[in-house]
Amino acid sequence: MAAMQWSVDFYTGLPEIDRQHEELFALVNRLHDARTHRNELLDQAFGDLCDYIRDHFSAEESFMDQASLDPAYVARHRAAHANFIMRINELWQAHRAGSDEAADDLLAFLIAWLREHILITDRKMAVAAHHHLGSDAPHNQFSHF
Ligand SMILES: [Fe+2]
Ligand SMILES: [Fe+2]
Repeated sequence: MAAMQWSVDFYTGLPEIDRQHEELFALVNRLHDARTHRNELLDQAFGDLCDYIRDHFSAEESFMDQASLDPAYVARHRAAHANFIMRINELWQAHRAGSDEAADDLLAFLIAWLREHILITDRKMAVAAHHHLGSDAPHNQFSHF
């Protein structure tokens, strides 16, 4: 079974953001499949995922600026992205330094963080953006809370 399963719960109703999130899930699953290889395959999967994460975060951050969302909320959202990148780099360095558990810790952290971030923080962004744009948010909004 895939490490990260896409479901409608993750939809924000912002097509480009949803497409990027689905791609992120696919890249995390590729990293998951490569985790037993301590070689280029794992390095490549991690590198591709990091590149995609950076592009995705900057796309979201420009989107939030354009949608004129509450600056305090945008600052918190940006800080969450920056902290996440710092943390995954620390875990990756630990893996490179030879820690056997680090690749598993990295995956567990990645999966838990991405799920929660999309379900709570990104969907909150989507609700505010839909409100600003006068469009309809998907019916799944905050269905879990
Ligand atoms: Fe996101
Ligand atoms: Fe985000």
